[in-house]
Amino acid sequence: MVGKRRQSGPGLRAGAMLLAAFCVAMIAPHSSRGGDPQAVKTRAARQDYYRSQWDPIHFPPQIDRATDEECLVCHREILERDVLPASPAGLKSEDVLGWYQTLDVYEGPQMTFHQRHLVGPLARKLMNLSCNFCHRGNDPREEGLFIPADVNGMPRFTLRKMVNPSETCLRCHGRFPSENMGLEGDWRRVRRDFEDEETRNGCLVCHETIRTVRHRVRYLHAAAIEEAAKATSDGCYGCHGGRAWYRISYPYPRHPWPGMGEETPEWAVGRPTESDPQWRIGSE
Ligand code: HEC
Ligand code: HEC
Ligand code: HEC
Ligand code: HEC
Ligand code: HEC
Repeated sequence: MVGKRRQSGPGLRAGAMLLAAFCVAMIAPHSSRGGDPQAVKTRAARQDYYRSQWDPIHFPPQIDRATDEECLVCHREILERDVLPASPAGLKSEDVLGWYQTLDVYEGPQMTFHQRHLVGPLARKLMNLSCNFCHRGNDPREEGLFIPADVNGMPRFTLRKMVNPSETCLRCHGRFPSENMGLEGDWRRVRRDFEDEETRNGCLVCHETIRTVRHRVRYLHAAAIEEAAKATSDGCYGCHGGRAWYRISYPYPRHPWPGMGEETPEWAVGRPTESDPQWRIGSE
């Protein structure tokens, strides 16, 4: 494996740098993030599978500038392949529902994970995720590598993931942080104290005035989120506890908001006061 990596090393990188310079020169004025799928296509046609697997677009710094269209030149299947109509054992996918498929906000037939996050109706409405929000560059050699603990003092490798869940999934699939809100228990239990026929979104009872500076990041559609929130709290809760795959919550930045108290609660000490610079609106 080491050999393979070397093979695709300096030559390719020099080529890629030339190409990058070419890309910069070619950026259309309306495009703030660049990207040149045509150049990627030309390159892909010239290189074999291994060179493509180690294509520098997979790694920093290039992955930070990559557009989805560029990734999709080689990975069309990510959006085009569909879930199987039936499992190998014969269970039809339309007969086997995940609990989250029973929710009002779940629209349409079963889709793949990537489709649900990139092109599903809810994803398009509330989110603006890109390949490089989750994929920050990974080394395939690290994924299943087994090194016994005592070889040349090298660290023991575990199975590593392609994406870092703490900085991706957890932001939208963490536990409802009720203890930070002074609420007794999960939203499913307390929501009836805040909602009725007229007040459809109990979150906004408090969040109309508390932590109002929110979602100012490129991977969300902030205005659409607030618009959808007028009719129901399901959208808000959906990303803040409703689809909790984790027992912990994400430590969100705590943006100062108009009317904010002077004192910082103990749980919030040390929290950043602005979104991740990488995704903050205006930072591109
Ligand atoms: C020039 C073609 C090409 C481009 C462009 C490309 N990839 Fe790949 N990528 C490959 C090949 C070949 C592999 C090897 C595995 C495979 O065939 O699926 C691979 C593997 C991967 C893997 C799996 C890695 C693993 O460890 O198994 C991920 C994730 C990935 N690419 C994401 C991306 C993303 C995100 C982009 C855009 C930033 C991108 N790729 C752009 C060709 C490409
Ligand atoms: C919401 C986060 C997220 C987004 C956005 C995302 N991916 Fe992935 N991707 C994942 C996860 C999680 C896996 C599985 C990782 C693992 O098994 O370790 C994965 C796996 C992959 C793989 C390898 C496995 C496979 O299914 O073939 C490729 C290639 C890939 N993604 C490409 C892309 C491309 C191209 C895009 C943009 C069009 C994209 N991803 C957008 C999270 C994401
Ligand atoms: C920016 C917010 C956001 C991020 C980041 C995110 N998700 Fe999601 N996820 C959602 C939303 C919203 C839905 C509901 C989509 C729908 O119902 O159409 C969802 C649905 C899901 C589902 C169920 C839907 C299905 O049919 O597959 C799974 C599983 C899932 N996410 C896992 C993950 C994992 C794993 C990651 C990290 C790699 C991740 N999500 C990152 C917002 C997010
Ligand atoms: C009774 C009032 C109240 C209700 C109802 C309420 N919240 Fe909160 N929420 C708060 C308070 C208070 C804070 C902490 C404010 C601070 O930073 O000092 C907070 C903080 C948060 C945070 C940030 C947590 C962190 O760790 O930084 C999120 C996310 C959040 N609320 C989402 C929601 C959602 C979604 C709903 C509805 C499903 C909801 N809240 C309902 C009062 C409420
Ligand atoms: C599609 C997923 C999604 C939806 C829907 C959503 N949020 Fe968030 N929320 C996030 C993410 C991701 C962050 C972290 C953004 C960042 O890093 O600045 C966040 C941050 C927050 C914060 C922290 C604000 C701060 O100080 O930066 C609060 C409070 C909050 N959300 C409340 C809500 C409320 C109330 C709703 C409904 C009106 C809602 N969220 C809907 C994903 C979502």
